[in-house]
Parts: sequence; C-alpha cells; structure tokens
Amino acid sequence: MSGLIARYRDRLPVTAATPIVTLDEGATPLLRADRLAAAAGLRLGSVHLKFEGANPTGSFKDRGMTLAMSKALEEHSRGVLCASTGNTAASAAAYSARAGLRCVVFLPRGAVAAGKLAQAMMHGAEIVDVPGNFDEALAAALAVAAEQGFTVVNSSNPYRIEGQKTAAFEVVEALGRAPDFQFMPVGNAGNITAYWKGYKELGGARPKMMGFQAAGAAPLVLGHAVKNPKTLATAIRIGDPYSRAGALAARDESGGAIAAVSDAEIVAAYRFLAREEGVFCEPASAAGVAGLLKLARAGRKPRGVVVCVLTGHGLKDPETAQKTPCRRRTFRAGRRFQL
Ligand code: F0G
Repeated sequence: MSGLIARYRDRLPVTAATPIVTLDEGATPLLRADRLAAAAGLRLGSVHLKFEGANPTGSFKDRGMTLAMSKALEEHSRGVLCASTGNTAASAAAYSARAGLRCVVFLPRGAVAAGKLAQAMMHGAEIVDVPGNFDEALAAALAVAAEQGFTVVNSSNPYRIEGQKTAAFEVVEALGRAPDFQFMPVGNAGNITAYWKGYKELGGARPKMMGFQAAGAAPLVLGHAVKNPKTLATAIRIGDPYSRAGALAARDESGGAIAAVSDAEIVAAYRFLAREEGVFCEPASAAGVAGLLKLARAGRKPRGVVVCVLTGHGLKDPETAQKTPCRRRTFRAGRRFQL
C-alpha cells in the first residue's frame, strides 16, 4: 500500500482495523533553490523548497486528510464537514469521495480561489455559502457539526495535525538532518503546529520556526484577533486562528518568530519563485519566502540550512496568476515574426 499512512504507520494513530483512505499523498519534492539563496545573500545549496503543491489535490492538506478521513470511516461517521478558505475543502471533497462519505464545506462568500472551488464541486461536496469571512464560516461549521454529529475535518481534528507532522519527517529524511530554520505561511496555524510536533517527535536538533502572516491578517503578530482580515492571499485570510496556542508554542520553544509580510512582498516572492525557480505556488504559499527575503534585506540573514514550505499549487488561484505582467503578442500568418 502506498501513501503516508503506510510509510509512517508506526508513528500514526492507526491500527489494523483502520480502513486506509489514500490518494498516495506525501513524498513531495524538497528542491534546492539557488537563485532564491542568491537573492537572499545566502550560501548556494543552503536554501530548499518543500513543494507541497505536489500533493494529489495540490496542497499540504492531503497529509492531514488521509488520516482524518480514515479515522472518520473507522468511527462510522455520518459524514464530514469543514470550513475553508478553499484547500481544506478541496482535499476533504476528494478524500470523502474516495471514502464514500458525505462532505459538506462551509465557504466564505467570494473569498475562495477558483481552482479550489472547482475541485470541491467536481468531487461532489455540498457547498454552504457563508456571507461572512473564514472565522465566521468556521464558527458556523463547528456549531452545526456539534449539533448534528458530523466529523469536523478542520485542523481542530487532531488526526489532521498527526498526518501533517509527517512533512517534518520527510524534510529530515531528505536533508539527512533537521534544517536550522523553517520559513512558512501561517493562517489557521495548524500546519506550523504540526511541523513542530513532527520535529519534536524525531528528537535531536530542531529548526527555528519562522511563521509569516499577511500584514492585513496578522492576529498572531498583533496579539489580538482581527475582525476584518484583508489580503490577496485568500488561503491565509484568517483573523482568529484556531491553533493559536500551537503556533505560539512552536515559535517560543524553537526560538523562532512570527512576523508579517505585505501583499506586495507576497506577490514579489510568488512571481520570483515561478520565474526564477520554476516553482508555481499559490500566493499564500509564498509568504514564508517573502519573509526570508524581507529579513535578508534587513540584514538579518538566517545561518545554516533553510527550508521554505510552499503549501499549495499555483494553479489553485488562476485569477491572481493572470494578473501577472507577461510579454504577449499576436501571430499574424504571412507576416515575418521577430523573436
Ligand atoms: N497555505 C495554504 C495554501 C493554505 O491553504 C493554508 C490554510 C495555509 C497556508 C495556512 O495553513 O491554516 O495550517 O496555518 N488553508 C486553510 C483552508 C485555512 O481552509 O484551506 P494553517
């Protein structure tokens, strides 16, 4: 059997009785990024990209979803439910299709990128349009699930965190050691919590965890919830993160930091990765790289081995991609075309 439950069975809460729902997630590339290293003024060979867009539904959510869905099936769940800025919904929809479970997704109206919505629709999820932001959608989803006995597959579900911690195992396997620094985006804060759990379970050296929020949606930086979070990076447009405590523990125990980057910095990093490294991630995914470049510009260069986690694929958000300037001309038959 393939997939990350098969690979890490001894470190995950499964038994012989757990029916495994998998799309062969995980085992994503860790790519050396020398142009990024050069742009940050770091040693060539020291910066790597963990490209989670290579997961089956195009985001890291699949790591948590294989486990959450397998356990839901084992526990004879009536169905699964989540609130989402899009990727959790896409992943839940795909894995529940495979599991044969009903899937209901609560989506903040007008704030989900087109690719993610298309995935949820294609995989047969029932969509609940919430006139409000993600935080309001999550509160609604949790209340409805508690009342009606559905399994919540947001990162409030501990199996999501368990599955996602395997990304830390893969990073250490690929490098042969833990990195010195890990840069990543932070939204609802489940992923930074999960990586930190993974690194701690491995024992030995651990990276400093460097989390980045969008400046208009930076509750962990400000120290209080943000009522109307704003950023073009819709995946992390979250004002009141569920896993706040986990993120702050990761920051403090590792000696890392959680800071903010502007939308302009996110877009610059997003375009840089696509054009200079050949890696197309979605805007939110570039927040960690934006943070690395920002610190480097301020003369605060990380020393040693750096991993930047790119959480989702660029194809998720075609609208933002298509706003990128591009040299484009029309070919006219019969006329000479000058390259
Ligand atoms: N990057 C992407 C592409 C995401 O979709 C998310 C979260 C994050 C980063 C932040 O991860 O929430 O664990 O801190 N997306 C959730 C969703 C909220 O509904 O798909 P986090």
